[in-house]
Amino acid sequence: MTRIARFALHPGFTVADVDPRLFGSFVEHLGRCVYTGIFEPGHPTADEAGLRGDVLDLIRELGVTAVRYPGGNFVSGYKWEDSIGPVADRPRRLDLAWRSTETNRFGLSEYIAFVKKLGPEAEPMMAVNLGTRGVLEALELQEYANHPSGTALSDLRAAHGDKAPFGIRMWCLGNEMDGPWQTGHKTAGEYGRLAAETARAMRQIDPAVELVVCGSSGQSMETFGAWEATVLAETYDLVDHISLHAYYEELDGDRDSFLASAVDMESFIENVVATCDHVGARLKSKKRINLSFDEWNVWYLSRTEAEVSALDWPQTPRLLEDNYTVTDAVVFGSLLIALLRHADRVTVACLAQLVNVIAPILTEPGGPAWRQTTFFPFAQASRHGRGQVLNVRVDSPTYETKRYGEVPLLHATAVRADDGTVTVFAVNRSQTDALPLEVTLVGLDLTAVVEHSALADANPEARNTLADPERVAPHGATGTVLENGALSATLEPLSWNMIRLA
Ligand code: AHR
Repeated sequence: MTRIARFALHPGFTVADVDPRLFGSFVEHLGRCVYTGIFEPGHPTADEAGLRGDVLDLIRELGVTAVRYPGGNFVSGYKWEDSIGPVADRPRRLDLAWRSTETNRFGLSEYIAFVKKLGPEAEPMMAVNLGTRGVLEALELQEYANHPSGTALSDLRAAHGDKAPFGIRMWCLGNEMDGPWQTGHKTAGEYGRLAAETARAMRQIDPAVELVVCGSSGQSMETFGAWEATVLAETYDLVDHISLHAYYEELDGDRDSFLASAVDMESFIENVVATCDHVGARLKSKKRINLSFDEWNVWYLSRTEAEVSALDWPQTPRLLEDNYTVTDAVVFGSLLIALLRHADRVTVACLAQLVNVIAPILTEPGGPAWRQTTFFPFAQASRHGRGQVLNVRVDSPTYETKRYGEVPLLHATAVRADDGTVTVFAVNRSQTDALPLEVTLVGLDLTAVVEHSALADANPEARNTLADPERVAPHGATGTVLENGALSATLEPLSWNMIRLA
């Protein structure tokens, strides 16, 4: 018996509008993300500011919106003053997080100029150091960055060549402060108080700033849940978002569970939403805290942990340079689907990271830049996943996994654009079998399949490398039909799919 996956779409059953910031990314001073990633003076494609033109083009094609900076773990040792003013005067510093030497050659002004070059949708998302620093330093950074003029720090910015304020609206109050690996790690109570005082003071400068308070650095943290509740009890009225971070990898050859990683991501989101709303209810507040999933990706963390401890303070080491397979891209696509399915509460998300470091783009110093397998689902979702997410309840055959029990083979979402066109994003988790899909379209004026693009390969380990940078790319799938209000398609085994209907 052929097993068919089904769902129905109706314009009246919606999740929410997609916030463009769901397609954010992350640039950390880590390995080669900045140096020889986005920034390489002397590279044949570099512009006057030293930004690599080939990389800028790929980032624009990727469709990245918010760009979180400068870390990550790096931010907990960050002295923002080191990264401003004449380059020759900037100090070299130890970066404790990544056992590297930071030259500060690329700093705050360079970051803002970089974000501006990405296009009108791109916006900065700046983290302040609440690991080894506090309220005053955050305020001084905010004043330097955003105050128009007439104070010591805003005039200093102008003297450094940036007359116009940077206008940073989104700020992260530290990074992963629940993690024992974080420099200046704190208990939830200690961090909650510091975050609250920092938020209160930052709002005194500008009540309109958008603030992200640190949630847990993973659902498996021992303090998960209690951390969010304690931190939000201190900060509920003062912040807009709480952060979530999650990375997934295939462990012990258990690919079936790896393919179901989004089950964990969705439960993480739902558990954080429940905790936020529980605190809101206790406080009798009408306000809703949204979620900033500001680090997510596939990351072979277990393979790379040893890399860092072996370092002896090098400059720009090759770190966390995972080379993604087709399988990784399918899981990655499924994580994107999970974010879209929760667009009612996840209003910011940052793919960690952007270039070289667990990234959709790889580069060689002095050489080319190319797209990883994960580049394609992100670019397609950012381009076509704009509008209103429709409620998708799948009726799908299932398979058994060690980590998550019985899991649907189909993972899917659909987004309706303002012009009425609909894009379905779908993943078939089966490693062996194609999955027939039937979608009933109710009350939607759709008559044609514009495109069915699939990412799948006879070799699930296929990847794009320096030697073969275009080995993997999406292809057109055949046999997809829309007739009498019903879409039928076949999803190849282990595939990411985008089906556009008009
Ligand atoms: O993205 C890599 C690292 O992962 C970040 O620096 C940190 O926040 C997280 O643990």
